[in-house]
Amino acid sequence: MYPAGTLRIDELTAEERAVYASLKQERLPEHIAIIMDGNGRWAGSRSLKRFVGHQQGAKSVRLVTETASRIGLPWLTLYALSIENDLRRPRAEVSFLMRLLKSFLEDNVQRMMDNNVRMKYIGRTHELPAEVQEKMRWAEETTARNTGTTLTLALMYGGRSELVDAFRGLAAEMQQKHLKPELITEEDIHRHLYTAHMPDPDLLIRTSGEMRLSNYLLWQVAYSEIFVTQRLWPDFRGIHLLEAIAEYQQRERRFGGLGKGCGEVEEHPERIKIAVS
Ligand code: FPP
Repeated sequence: MYPAGTLRIDELTAEERAVYASLKQERLPEHIAIIMDGNGRWAGSRSLKRFVGHQQGAKSVRLVTETASRIGLPWLTLYALSIENDLRRPRAEVSFLMRLLKSFLEDNVQRMMDNNVRMKYIGRTHELPAEVQEKMRWAEETTARNTGTTLTLALMYGGRSELVDAFRGLAAEMQQKHLKPELITEEDIHRHLYTAHMPDPDLLIRTSGEMRLSNYLLWQVAYSEIFVTQRLWPDFRGIHLLEAIAEYQQRERRFGGLGKGCGEVEEHPERIKIAVS
């Protein structure tokens, strides 16, 4: 159940309200992470240039965030630019994405204020152009006191490089405190991740049908439910977010334990003859 003060259900569309009404309030996800994929294919299938796909993708970011904020979702984390995108895409595309991010922030900070959305970022954002970082800081500071959805953009992000950064931070701390490696716990690693301040994603959504993690939140998605849709990101809307939550609620989360229909537990395992052929 999300805090009542953050709910703005009356602002959902009638279609969204119908799906929302079917959701179990006691099983809503706290954190949804999304791999926004398919901007290029969306443009290609319309004989348009790729940048038009990214522009439409930015519109989906706005609309999906607004729906998330209306239902009071606490955490929404979107994969907006990977380190690999930065390295392997044509410079013109990367620099367009940078301009798009800047204008997205300029145009949307007021909407974020209206929707009680707080902006944050994860990734090696210090490697982004200075003017983009400046705009990011402005958006983060302006929205810092909002108490609804935290929208985190993963920018210059890679799951492996996040782990490298975390291990570097942890190693420095261990050295400074003269601690032995045997003392390292999962909690210590968690404290040094970019996401230390948020819960792990309950649900990971990937658009456009690819069955890959693409180096996204590798540590954090250990027990996330994965929802892959064929829909391309520029066609993804708030209603589809709600449908993904409905599907998530059908899943049985076991976290490595046993669930319904997993067979009967043997009470005397020592009596069982082991035969491996
Ligand atoms: C994947 O589509 C998407 C990206 C590499 C970048 C995500 C960017 C946006 C959604 C737009 C801008 C976002 C913000 C926050 C302003 P793709 O180009 O890999 O698609 P393809 O696989 O079909 O080529």
